[in-house]
Amino acid sequence: MTRIDDNIPAMGQHDHQLYCLHGTEFMRINNKTALITGGGSGLGEASSLRLAEEGARVFVTDISQESAERVAQTIRDFGGQATALHHDVTQESDWSRVHDAIAAECQSLDILVNNAGVAFSGNIEETSLSDWRAVNSVNSDGVFLGMKNCLPMMTKPGGSIINISSIEGIIGDPNLIAYNASKGAVRLMTKSAALHCTQAGYGIRVNSVHPGFIETPMVAEGIAAMGDAAEEFHQQILAAIPMGHLGQAIDIANAVLFLASDESRYMTGSEMVIDGGYTAH
Ligand SMILES: NC(=O)c1ccc[n+]([C@@H]2O[C@H](COP(=O)([O-])OP(=O)(O)OC[C@H]3O[C@@H](n4cnc5c(N)ncnc54)[C@H](O)[C@@H]3O)[C@@H](O)[C@H]2O)c1
Repeated sequence: MTRIDDNIPAMGQHDHQLYCLHGTEFMRINNKTALITGGGSGLGEASSLRLAEEGARVFVTDISQESAERVAQTIRDFGGQATALHHDVTQESDWSRVHDAIAAECQSLDILVNNAGVAFSGNIEETSLSDWRAVNSVNSDGVFLGMKNCLPMMTKPGGSIINISSIEGIIGDPNLIAYNASKGAVRLMTKSAALHCTQAGYGIRVNSVHPGFIETPMVAEGIAAMGDAAEEFHQQILAAIPMGHLGQAIDIANAVLFLASDESRYMTGSEMVIDGGYTAH
């Protein structure tokens, strides 16, 4: 398969040289099947490309069929295997349809990346119940439904579920009441499911990833929506990040790849923080 690094935002030259050393036989997740929700943009897109690049057969799902198809086509253009599926993670009927589509083509699912998510800004006083439910429906219910519906398909040893939480699932922000709650829920449902899988004797690990501020459409749109206050907010974020800059989607995709691969075989119920040091102080 041709290298597809150039399609991943800000893949550095050093990384490119490193990964070019790999031949097909050294691909880190060869012969594994992966499902990535919200795979049509940002972190989901980068993760889809990175998992495909290391040999996975990838199902890219998104509520935007067009975005999912664009990412799947990029993977196919570079010689990888990918299928795009329309998928609203809040709908159990959609999970059944996705389940059936994967089962029709593959014997089992090895990797589930519960990545689809939405941002919402608002404090406890100004957030309505309907906004709260809308955010938690995607970010929390979507992850619950993903694990619940995919576990029966993960029948081979070496299965890995990766739930994309956030640093906002670890620390509080006065203006992110619903988002904080949804991402905190992901952090602890990950641990519960991880313990259940070990108790049940399944060969499935479950871990969460906690990105800090990463340059994706979600963050760019959030900052832009601040209008005149955008630049000041941007500078405040930069000042609060010890490493002094935002992360790139590839920084998260590489962590997803590690958790998806057998290289992380002794990790379950863990939380991987990738935030340039933001939560270190
Ligand atoms: N970018 C960051 O800085 C950052 C930081 C921490 C956590 N996260 C989390 O990472 C994940 C990806 O965020 P991103 O920055 O790539 O955002 P993004 O907006 O670029 O991508 C999110 C994707 O999810 C899809 N989506 C939204 N609702 C959906 C639904 N109901 N069903 C299926 N797909 C749906 C969107 O269509 C989009 O393609 C989210 O869970 C987000 O909360 C992002």
